[in-house]
Amino acid sequence: MKQPKRYLITAALPYANGLKHIGHLAGAYLPADIYVRYLRAQKRDVVFVCGSDEHGTAIPIQATKEGTTAQAIIDKYHPIIAQNFSDLGISFDIYHRTSSPLHHETAREFFKKLNDKGDLITKESEQYYDEQAGSFLADRYIKGTCPNCSYPGAYGDQCENCGKSLSPDELINPVSTLSGNAPVKKNTKHWYLPLDRHEAFLRKWILEEHATDWRPTVVGQCKSWIDGGLLPRAVTRDLNWGVTLPEDVADGKGKVLYVWFDAPIGYISATKQWAKDNDKDWKPYWEDKDTKLVHFVGKDNIVFHCIIFPVMLQLHGNILPENVPANEFMNLEGDKMSTSRNWKLEMEDYINDFVKPENGGSQMADVLRYYLTLIAPESKDSEFTWKGFQDANNSELVSIFGNFVNRALVLMHKLCKGKVPPLHAAAMDELDREAIDNIKATKEKIEKLLEEYKFRDALFEVINLARIGNQYMQKKEPWIIAKTLDTQPEGQQRIDNCLHICLQLTANLAILINPFLPFTAKKICHLLKVVDKILDWENAGSMKLLSVGYTLRAPELLFRKIEDEEIAKQVEKLKAAAIHKEPVAAPAVPAAAPAAITVKPEIVFDDFAKIDLKVGTIVAAEKVEKADKLLKLQVDLGFETRTIVSGIALHFKPEEIVGKQVTVVVNLAPRKMRGIESNGMILMAEDAAGKLHFVHPETTINNGSGVS
Ligand code: MF3
Ligand code: ZN
Repeated sequence: MKQPKRYLITAALPYANGLKHIGHLAGAYLPADIYVRYLRAQKRDVVFVCGSDEHGTAIPIQATKEGTTAQAIIDKYHPIIAQNFSDLGISFDIYHRTSSPLHHETAREFFKKLNDKGDLITKESEQYYDEQAGSFLADRYIKGTCPNCSYPGAYGDQCENCGKSLSPDELINPVSTLSGNAPVKKNTKHWYLPLDRHEAFLRKWILEEHATDWRPTVVGQCKSWIDGGLLPRAVTRDLNWGVTLPEDVADGKGKVLYVWFDAPIGYISATKQWAKDNDKDWKPYWEDKDTKLVHFVGKDNIVFHCIIFPVMLQLHGNILPENVPANEFMNLEGDKMSTSRNWKLEMEDYINDFVKPENGGSQMADVLRYYLTLIAPESKDSEFTWKGFQDANNSELVSIFGNFVNRALVLMHKLCKGKVPPLHAAAMDELDREAIDNIKATKEKIEKLLEEYKFRDALFEVINLARIGNQYMQKKEPWIIAKTLDTQPEGQQRIDNCLHICLQLTANLAILINPFLPFTAKKICHLLKVVDKILDWENAGSMKLLSVGYTLRAPELLFRKIEDEEIAKQVEKLKAAAIHKEPVAAPAVPAAAPAAITVKPEIVFDDFAKIDLKVGTIVAAEKVEKADKLLKLQVDLGFETRTIVSGIALHFKPEEIVGKQVTVVVNLAPRKMRGIESNGMILMAEDAAGKLHFVHPETTINNGSGVS
């Protein structure tokens, strides 16, 4: 296979509107990183770009939720996400931002070129408008029932339940997420990318030329898009957050590029910034046909990377992706991962719980990388379970891989005086030769699998080589030979051969595992006292990585066992944080039959009299860090001011409730929530739409007044 001159590898730009979970990591960033590390070890010319996607309605909507500005949101999440990736060993050459001026310029120029060439069309149409808010309702500003799966919280651009991409017009019972009102229609002009003009190109390029080298799931999705009929797609929005249109286009005021138009151009602007920083030329990476461009994404991004962006790239005169190895979804403990239901494991949480030095350090980042690759959803959805995570660590990384490396070092110290023993050709047997052949064969298998983006299978081969190493050692039993050295001193040669091969195999394992578990590879280099340079891929398969007579460090365990309690704690934490009810805006139609109202079992007056209710005033309110639902309140009860943690953050902004009078259960036993002691509970009434209301006296009265 002819090698391309250079590689440009991209991983989907994550929205900077919140922390990212391990489903994201497994979907795009980890496989991309494995591929890139492999290419780097091959000394190929490769640039790995990514960055924050900082536009679209997702950002201002999060800002509203957090009671702050869109700019503050991206400034908050961009650096945290970047740090999380870095802590988990994701080695971008650049992690850029679409809010940067360089990106705005690049995206605007791109639009302008297409518009000037006549590749875009404009259309006036009626679009949903919120009269109370005075604004058009793009994408996530509108919610309704999904026409495909009947999920009531579908957005104007996509249903997060079934994944179908939607337009606001398709929603059943649409509601504005700004005011909760039913929207009206209003006329507006937009720019469209007429995909219908490019059907023939897409059919030929994807369904013929890439029919066999792209993943079947990817080709399948593209085929159903193309067969379903391609329509012009709007590439502008009525919004005040995003890349503004070029000054000179008529009627462009108040409009921005659609986030899915500007975001992928972020790959180009990121490459430009990387080139600037490194004194390189960015152009060949996007213009020279001898560049291999590969987009790593999750399945919800397929259409954008396989259909829309390629059409844009072609019109603009850029190269096309050579492959888009998209992953399916990863579920978590029996359910879909979801940010809105808080059913997820955030990278940040994993890092805090496992990757801190006292919990195992970067080796534990490798454990996550290992398990996520082992269960990578390459051809179908897969499932992360904490038990599976524990098993993968304990029975594979600890018992097979770590155990082999450890035994090789321990035995070398014990039976070979702490030095790499020589290989005695005359004393070699069939088992020795087989072991050596296996190292070479494994290298070739892994290469082939990685070139085909089969990361799961490639990783299996690495572990299998360690397994082969263990079996080899077990069959050779150097510790038994050692017992008979008094009478058969020539046995030392067989011991030497066994450990020579095991140590060379260990060095090979470092090279082969390096793309997957880079921290582990480094640690093995440390134990073997060799420089990281040894990890160059061309060294794989060599039996001369360690010089005879070289002294090595004392063994140290590569992986620690994960205990049942750690796993139980994580499952508990996941369940405790889950939000069971989807917070959906009230539909603008008469509510269906009211939910059955149930009455709790009867109590006597004395039971009721035990509850002490008093009136108080909220004098301060703030969000609880990393708890979407909680607000920390200070409530003045007349006789004292108390801290109360209340699960009302999804319903009220802190600033809007300060000064409100409320009813408090004042004799409830204190309870710790997110480390904060809560001393009481605020009474709330819930309406049919699930919205909460304070229960309070008709007019303001003295704080501390009793309620009975
Ligand atoms: N922000 C999008 C998401 O999280 C992905 C954007 S990928 C890009 O789904 F190509 F547009 F950058
Ligand atoms: Zn749906």
